[in-house]
Amino acid sequence: MQVPARIGGRPVSADEWIEVLSPFDGSPVARVPALGAEHVAEAVAAASAALARGDFPQYRRAEVLERAAELLAERTEEFAVTIAREAGKPIRDARAETLRCVDTLRFSAVEARRLSGEVIPMDASASGVGRLGFALRHPVGVIAAISPFNFPLNLVAHKLGPAIAAGCPVVLKPAELTPVSAIRLVDLLVEAGLPADWISVVTGTGPDAGTPLVAHPVPALITFTGSVAVGRRIQDTAPRKRVLLELGSNAPVIVEPDADLDRVVAQVRLGGFSYAGQSCISTQRVLAHADIYDKLLHELKIAVGSLRVGDPLDEDTEVGPLISEAAAKRVEDWLDRARAAGAEVTGGVRHGTLITPAVVADPPRDLDVYRQEVFGPVVTVTPYTHLAEAIGLANDSDFGLQAGVFTADLGVALRAARELEFGGVLINQVPTFRADQQPYGGLRDAGNTREGPAYTVQEMTELRFVMVSA
Ligand code: SIN
Repeated sequence: MQVPARIGGRPVSADEWIEVLSPFDGSPVARVPALGAEHVAEAVAAASAALARGDFPQYRRAEVLERAAELLAERTEEFAVTIAREAGKPIRDARAETLRCVDTLRFSAVEARRLSGEVIPMDASASGVGRLGFALRHPVGVIAAISPFNFPLNLVAHKLGPAIAAGCPVVLKPAELTPVSAIRLVDLLVEAGLPADWISVVTGTGPDAGTPLVAHPVPALITFTGSVAVGRRIQDTAPRKRVLLELGSNAPVIVEPDADLDRVVAQVRLGGFSYAGQSCISTQRVLAHADIYDKLLHELKIAVGSLRVGDPLDEDTEVGPLISEAAAKRVEDWLDRARAAGAEVTGGVRHGTLITPAVVADPPRDLDVYRQEVFGPVVTVTPYTHLAEAIGLANDSDFGLQAGVFTADLGVALRAARELEFGGVLINQVPTFRADQQPYGGLRDAGNTREGPAYTVQEMTELRFVMVSA
């Protein structure tokens, strides 16, 4: 099936095509055109023209987002199957992602309705007496959006929804490996009433399509979700632009001795292994108090061993493939190195792109499985003896996206919330939880922004001060 890109409202093909293959069995899913700098320039020109028309008022932007949410809710199964096929995400998780995307569109619609500025009390200073001042929220301009493979629908919606609410046309470069969900979402938005030239989807590789998009002088803002290396490169390439980065993590969870261990085990079983750990907030480092370390490790190994690994389209599958064989081989290599360093590794056997879920007991802290973002079905378990040590271990990371703490003690919870240096601290919850309206983003190498429609809309608009003197 050939799926053309969308540029300025037109379907666009090319001489060369990118094969989108199932990461599970390599079967063909679709072909999308391999586009480059010329197409990027055309898409940016279309977006600029759409912006200049200025004929897409807030109420219509809200209506489009509301209608798109309704249409997506009606077509959950169709979208979920697309995600499962192109991303290898187990169908149950793919449905959950689609329903989250409905929420993201709904929350974006709310922002489109309520986007407003503020009145400035001019007579609060002597020089302002007799003047009226207010600040309008103005769209920043054309937006360049680059989205990752792991949530090929909902993380696209986290960029497009707020951009529509803010009044900014977008040129989107979706992940090369999972572009179909993004194209289908844009089609759905157009069906819901979005002017067809408002969002272009330029399919292609990072070097061919992403690089010219980042280098193009017109987009005022670049929003990127993906690896730290690429995010930093974008920042360096576009030092004068607003660059919103949502990058990686090796999310920790602290388990205090008074925690409900059944609850911890059940949540880590999901939080460490859903979508084979390919989420920026996958639970990676379990920090367990020494009093419960042995028991927790034992129960976790049993629970993780019961995860069903296999075909993403099978209703029973809980852990599917990694996105590519190269990704699976990297994780296998990191696990081999953990074994070689003397850590006890349970599971972690590779079959093609599948890796059986792995639990690594107390690995040396300089190992990649502990220190880097694994982005695979791997959880490490590390003992500690007091809370300050656990907080220190959690904070000792290049990433600061989300952390979890399990405790029955409110004092411990509040102390952890104060001292954990993360964008989000979740009490009695693994850090893998995300609600689409919350502020989501991190510190250090985890990024520099907060996503969630209410927050992204602020980033995608700027204040324009207006003063009226009598
Ligand atoms: C991410 O991988 O950054 C997104 C996680 C999520 O939205 O659940």
